[in-house]
Amino acid sequence: MMIEVKAPSNIAFLKYWGKADRKAQWPAGDSLSMTLQNAVTMTRCKLISSAFDDSNYKFSETEIRQKSKHSESTGSTPPNQHEAHSDVIVFDGQPKEDKKISTALSILRRQTGYQASLYLETKNTFPKSCGIASSASGMAALVIASLCAWTGSTSFDDLEKNGFTKNRLAHLARLCSGSAGRSLYGGYVEWLKKDSPATQSITCAFPADHWQLSDLILLVSKDEKSVGSTEAHDLAWSSPFFAPRISYLPEKLQLMKRAMVARDMENLGTLLEAEALEMHSVIMTATPPVNYLTKNTTALLSWIRESRKAGVFQAWFTIDAGPNIHLLSDMSEKPKIIAALKADHPDLEFIEDQTGNGPVINILV
Ligand code: DP6
Repeated sequence: MMIEVKAPSNIAFLKYWGKADRKAQWPAGDSLSMTLQNAVTMTRCKLISSAFDDSNYKFSETEIRQKSKHSESTGSTPPNQHEAHSDVIVFDGQPKEDKKISTALSILRRQTGYQASLYLETKNTFPKSCGIASSASGMAALVIASLCAWTGSTSFDDLEKNGFTKNRLAHLARLCSGSAGRSLYGGYVEWLKKDSPATQSITCAFPADHWQLSDLILLVSKDEKSVGSTEAHDLAWSSPFFAPRISYLPEKLQLMKRAMVARDMENLGTLLEAEALEMHSVIMTATPPVNYLTKNTTALLSWIRESRKAGVFQAWFTIDAGPNIHLLSDMSEKPKIIAALKADHPDLEFIEDQTGNGPVINILV
């Protein structure tokens, strides 16, 4: 049996930047994000032992056999029973060695005790490594899919019966990539640092139907970024702006949540822009400095502010660790923004997204 997990990306309103404890994936501060609906990773997974007779694979049986020749797996392996494993990872139809995925699988095996080899086939609906949090959706999908395969679960109810609540899955995803923990829930999700790695929490702050927002993702560049966010997180402490930022984060979170309770887009938008620019100031003033914003990014930021001032549309930007821009607004503003984009930036590609409901699990026959 093969299952397919669709896990969404998320866009951070309050950014997770810097780690207090890298090994425990304990963040330096609180964060808050909106789960997306259309920017998703789709991951198909099954135990490798039954992979050989499936005709759906995108690459040849011989390749699978060669990659899997050390695998002795014959089904669901009891936890804590070690065996050699040889996973097969297929990305966009091609077999791939992916360090981030194999590291994540080692973390999951260590944390859960499951060892059986996995066949994992994955694709994104958006370009990878350009600041659209492919690791968030990718790692969330990987965690859910692997645990489904290992425990024989085909739904979140099954997973819970097998000891894997959404909350446990969120923390497993966080260990693979911090922002992925927030992709386990729909709507608006907060990841609170609290007093220790063991007490940090990931919960839904507002459901998706509290406030549907539009997010137009402007694809300024599809190039892979030169410095990965995991590497750049470690530099945060060297910026003189980092300590003041950390001490102010809990207050900023409250201000954002208050704007969200009131569904006050102007207030939220003002906070969003200041927060994104603050994170990028920390990144740019670290030692060594990193710059994710390109000339085209900054030109578009000016265009957004000018268009807003001129009353063309009411939308506010935020940017994760990459050059691409998320343009957030009430749903009713979306047609005006798209018309302005087409008129002023006809060659600019964008993804139309909005507040999403969280990951789903499907059974494939
Ligand atoms: C800028 O979750 O990619 O998107 O935990 O090292 O995998 P690791 O980092 P990652 O960092 C994402 C940072 C961010 C802000 C955010 O999503 O909150």
